[in-house]
Amino acid sequence: MLFKTLAPFIAILGAAQAAPTPLSLSCSIGSESLVAATSSSEYSVVDCSTFLQGQFDVFSCHNTTEIPAGESCCFENWGVLMQTQFWDYNATYLDLLNSTSPEDLATLEQQVLSSYGDDDAKSTFTIHGLWNDLCDGSFNQYCNPSLEISQAKDNITHVMVDVFGEADLYKKMSTYWLNNVKSNVENAGNIDLWEHEYNKHGTCMNTLLPKCFTGAYTRFENTISFYKKTVELWSNLPTYQFLQQFGITPSLTKQYKLADVQAALAQAHDGKEVYIGCLKGAIDEIWYYHNLKGNVLTGEYQPIDSLTPSTCGDYVYYLPK
Ligand SMILES: *[C@@H]1O[C@H](CO)[C@@H](O)[C@H](O)[C@H]1NC(C)=O
Ligand SMILES: *[C@@H]1O[C@H](CO)[C@@H](O)[C@H](O)[C@H]1NC(C)=O
Ligand SMILES: *[C@@H]1O[C@H](CO)[C@@H](O)[C@H](O)[C@H]1NC(C)=O
Ligand SMILES: *[C@@H]1O[C@H](CO)[C@@H](O)[C@H](O)[C@H]1NC(C)=O
Repeated sequence: MLFKTLAPFIAILGAAQAAPTPLSLSCSIGSESLVAATSSSEYSVVDCSTFLQGQFDVFSCHNTTEIPAGESCCFENWGVLMQTQFWDYNATYLDLLNSTSPEDLATLEQQVLSSYGDDDAKSTFTIHGLWNDLCDGSFNQYCNPSLEISQAKDNITHVMVDVFGEADLYKKMSTYWLNNVKSNVENAGNIDLWEHEYNKHGTCMNTLLPKCFTGAYTRFENTISFYKKTVELWSNLPTYQFLQQFGITPSLTKQYKLADVQAALAQAHDGKEVYIGCLKGAIDEIWYYHNLKGNVLTGEYQPIDSLTPSTCGDYVYYLPK
């Protein structure tokens, strides 16, 4: 087991677990309402509705008894589900901050921001992954080597597009699930990041095992479902827009109060704290924490407080990409 952090999160964990409030993954931004589209029919996994009635009508990490072995496809044992996102800012700007006049920075900021398109990866927090931590905030990884996918051996493009007919998903992932220097998948392409994320995290989800699928199982059905679900959850957590609603936009000319960024994101996450990561004082990662009721593909995601303290200072840069 690995611990990302030590003492600080234990206090936060205690607080988070003291007040379980069943809520669905829905949030309001202005008049818009974003609700996770968890259409069960998209995923051919076991029906958990009977199991989830009665004593097992609980979110992960909140059960008071053991889950019967035969029901393991309907309850995630390592039940902290995190949808993680990158803000891969352009590090060149960090160097410019101290060496460029305020006037020149303002001009550059205008130029950079006006070059952002509406549906551009530049104005999007891109996908890092979907992780399942243990209830105490620690995590396991690479849990099931026999289930791993290999770009070299299996050709993930081939599996997605030719075997599963998921050309649209493939296109979306190619645009928004991007490798970068922060990913720990060095000198590699986007597909290597997808391979890494499923092998490291997806193989640790007990509700994603092949036995949880109904009908004739095709090898890597769980892998492709993992990718589809990750993209679906991410689509409902548009961090850039969440921040923009509060006037928090990428800037070369000002720093934001971490507390303001946290408040903006909590508003979009049922009031729960969202993890904000910084690299050299500038925002570079966002993690949304949840508990889960049911199967990882069809279950209900409940926002919970972050179990990891922010790595940012009281004032943060939010630099353009
Ligand atoms: C909740 O369920 C998990 C999975 O069966 C089990 O490991 C854990 O001990 C259970 N918690 C309690 C308090 O029984
Ligand atoms: C980062 O910003 C610099 C300065 O504007 C620019 O020359 C460079 O192309 C940018 N890098 C990327 C990857 O966009
Ligand atoms: C810019 O200057 C501040 C204050 O002197 C310093 O703390 C910071 O590390 C510098 N940033 C960079 C990127 O050099
Ligand atoms: C992987 O599959 C794609 C889609 O079928 C194909 O275009 C590509 O040539 C394959 N790559 C290799 C290395 O075989």
